[in-house]
Amino acid sequence: MKDQDHAKKNAGESSVDLIQNGMTVGLGSGSTVYWMLKQLGERAANGLDVKGVPSSQQTKGWAEAFGVPLTDFAHVKRLDLAIDGADEVDPQWQLVKGGGGALVREKIIAASANSLIVIIDESKTVSQLGAFPLPIEVVPFGWETTAERITETGVEPVARRNDAGELFVSDNGNYIVDCHFGTIREPRALEKQINQLTGVVETGLFTDMANNVIVGYPDRTETFG
Ligand code: 5RP
Repeated sequence: MKDQDHAKKNAGESSVDLIQNGMTVGLGSGSTVYWMLKQLGERAANGLDVKGVPSSQQTKGWAEAFGVPLTDFAHVKRLDLAIDGADEVDPQWQLVKGGGGALVREKIIAASANSLIVIIDESKTVSQLGAFPLPIEVVPFGWETTAERITETGVEPVARRNDAGELFVSDNGNYIVDCHFGTIREPRALEKQINQLTGVVETGLFTDMANNVIVGYPDRTETFG
């Protein structure tokens, strides 16, 4: 395994220690979350009473494979905590997420949780957000016009495509445009501005949502918050 994968594994596994008996947990998406799910499945097999709400079809599949009991928002309105990865985390714990295309469900889960635990490898910590292209989920109808409106924020959105060159479709049936800002100086203001644009479903900017950050290194973790 590469060093970065060890770091992700350490962060993901360590986050499971924060899950207490009887909790309902929002399950984020991505390769760091994979390790959290694997560990959580083992704890559940050893008697931990836990239920998870998955943020993507991929997470649902992994959780089922690892034996993590699942529920949904038809049955629970609040989550005790949510555990999720991120593509960038700045010193104020503002986040860019959505590299895997699950940002809308991830944000609904984060907004429904009493606490959001972010699990990352060390490469995700940045002094300023924006080097990672900001994902924005848009409604397919007239998405070209929505992309045009997004240019008002000073960026040329690039439609995300799959390996076959077709437009990437999210679990919600929407498209995603990736926005190469380079530097995002005011994440809160930008999040609000983008979310007001007609045709935008949600942005990958998660401001003022994270409560704890677990940074994984190849040989250890550091927990903040
Ligand atoms: C998916 C996400 C992921 O949490 C983010 O892309 C980090 O993924 P990874 O843990 O694989 O680096 O936001 O939409």
